[in-house]
Amino acid sequence: MIKRVLGKTGMEVSLLSLGTGGARQLGQTIGHSIYDQKRLVKAALDIGVNVFDTATHYGDSESILGECLSGIPRDSFLLCTKWPARDEVNNTIDDHTKLIKSIEKSLERLQTDYIDIMLFHGIMPHEYDLIVESLYPTMERLKYEGKIRSIGFSSRFSEDPGQKGIELGLSKHPELWDVVMLKYGILNQSAAAKILPLARNHNIGVINMAAVRVKLPDPILLEQLISKWKSSGLIDNDSLPTNNPLGWLVKDNVKSVIEAGYKFAAEPSSISTVLTGTASVEHLKMNVESMKEPSLIEDHMDRLKATLSHIIEYA
Ligand SMILES: NC(=O)c1ccc[n+]([C@@H]2O[C@H](COP(=O)([O-])OP(=O)(O)OC[C@H]3O[C@@H](n4cnc5c(N)ncnc54)[C@H](OP(=O)(O)O)[C@@H]3O)[C@@H](O)[C@H]2O)c1
Repeated sequence: MIKRVLGKTGMEVSLLSLGTGGARQLGQTIGHSIYDQKRLVKAALDIGVNVFDTATHYGDSESILGECLSGIPRDSFLLCTKWPARDEVNNTIDDHTKLIKSIEKSLERLQTDYIDIMLFHGIMPHEYDLIVESLYPTMERLKYEGKIRSIGFSSRFSEDPGQKGIELGLSKHPELWDVVMLKYGILNQSAAAKILPLARNHNIGVINMAAVRVKLPDPILLEQLISKWKSSGLIDNDSLPTNNPLGWLVKDNVKSVIEAGYKFAAEPSSISTVLTGTASVEHLKMNVESMKEPSLIEDHMDRLKATLSHIIEYA
C-alpha cells in the first residue's frame, strides 16, 4: 500500500482509507452483521489500510468501528471522526458544551482515549465565521489536552458543490487547519482549480471523500448525467459517447470505470488519502489493487480534465 503524509500532521496515511458513511455505512444499510463488519475492517487492516473515517451521524458506525478495532494496537491505525456544529432542527450553530459532550461520547463509542483527526462535519460558507469564532478555541483546547490530535473540517458538497466553504477556510485561516475533507473525482473536479493548490501551499492534509459515490458505479445514472450535461450545453455533444460514456477508460490495467474513479481521485499529490465507502471485502481488495498505480494514462487524464473540469455541480 502506498503511503502519503497527511500535510502538517505528519501522520503517514495509506493511500486508500475506509469510510463508514455514504450509502453503505459499514454495511449497516445492507444488513451486515457484526461478523461481516469485523471481517471488512480486518481485511482493511491486513491489506495496509490505516485510516478509518466515521462520524456521529453515520448510524452506529462509531460504536461498530470501536468494536471492530477493539484489541488492535492503537498505534497501528488512525481514527477520523466528525461533529456537525449545526443543530438541524433549530437551524442554529451549537455551543462549545455540545462539542465537548459529543467528543466524550465519540471517544467512548470508539473505545479510545484520543481521536487522530477531528473534523467539523460539513461547514457551509455562511456558517464558517461563527463556527471558527465560537467553537475553534474549544477544539484547540481539546487538542492541547490530548483528546484530539489534529483539527479540520469537511465540505457539505451536496449543498455547496463548488466547496466554497473549504476555499474560504483555506484562504482566510490556513494556519488553523491541519486537515480538510473534500470531494474530488472524475465528475467533481472543481477542487483542482483553487482548493488543492491552497492545501498544497499551506501543507494542509487532504482526505478525499465520495470520489466514486453513486453515479460512477451505476451505468444508467452515469449515462443520464452525461446526457443532461450535453443537453444543457455544459459539454459538447461529441465529447463523450452516449452509451457507456466513460467506457473508454477501461483499458490495460484499468478494469472498470469504478477503478478509474479511484485512480483519478488519488492522482493529485496534494491528496493524502482517498476514502472508499465499500462494504464488500472483494471490492475493497479491488480498490486497493487500483491504488497501486494511482493515476490513469496521460491521454485519459487529459481528456477527463479537458471535458469535465469546468463543471461545478453535485454529481
Ligand atoms: N464529510 C462528509 O460530509 C462526507 C460525505 C460523504 C462521504 N464521506 C466519507 O467518505 C466515505 C466514502 O464515500 P462513499 O461512501 O460515498 O464512498 P465511495 O467509495 O465514493 O462509493 C461507495 C460506493 O461505491 C461502490 N463501490 C466501491 N468499490 C466498488 C467496486 N470495486 N465495485 C463495485 N462497486 C464499488 C460501493 O458499493 P459496495 O459496497 O457494493 O462496494 C458503494 O455503493 C464515506 O464512507 C464517508 O466516510 C464524508
